[in-house]
Amino acid sequence: MTQDELKQAVAEAAVEHILPLLEEDTIVGVGTGSTANKFIDELAKHKHLFDGTVASSEASAERLKGHGIPVYDLNSVSSIRVYVDGADESNDQLHLIKGGGAALTREKIVAACSEEFVCIADESKLVKVLGDFPLPVEVIPMSRSYVARELVKLGGDPVYREGVVTDNGCHILDVYNLEIVDPVTLENQINSIVGVVTNGLFAARPANVLLLGTQSGVKTIK
Ligand code: 5RP
Repeated sequence: MTQDELKQAVAEAAVEHILPLLEEDTIVGVGTGSTANKFIDELAKHKHLFDGTVASSEASAERLKGHGIPVYDLNSVSSIRVYVDGADESNDQLHLIKGGGAALTREKIVAACSEEFVCIADESKLVKVLGDFPLPVEVIPMSRSYVARELVKLGGDPVYREGVVTDNGCHILDVYNLEIVDPVTLENQINSIVGVVTNGLFAARPANVLLLGTQSGVKTIK
């Protein structure tokens, strides 16, 4: 199977996983990226079973609306039953690196509000130690150089993702060469740097379930 087919398989598995949760008042949190896009397309086949969605990016909101699925402002819903999203890396404790698509802040907000976070990924994303994938850090534009200097002190090599402006009007630094042995501590350390909006470590609030697409089928890791 190609990587694309593995992503399709986990998107279908995610819909199967959440089907028992869908009721007429259920709100589904929806992530961002190529795997999440496949999930959206599969979810659309069941749009009559639930109330609507909260999206983690403008791009996903547009795709959902294109399918005729309602998209709510997070401030107008009281709870999100389940959140489904991809990842750039996961370890076996379901600590994640996210933000390759620059949607990390809204993704982290939606994850925080959700009862259950289902991560969907192909097997290339499962790693022993996080950090081969450069860690995205969203920053207030005027703080970019200052935050970069502070990230160097933490042992990383930050690179400005030129030309990218997030849905929140901010910039992204991609931090290379971090070997992230303690994701919870590093997540907090980076978030303490003034000017950081958030960083792409999802460790304080990891995924609850990882549906991993492998050549021998979709594996469920909890
Ligand atoms: C976007 C993300 C995505 O979930 C992550 O980049 C994975 O993307 P893909 O499913 O395209 O491999 O965090 O900000």
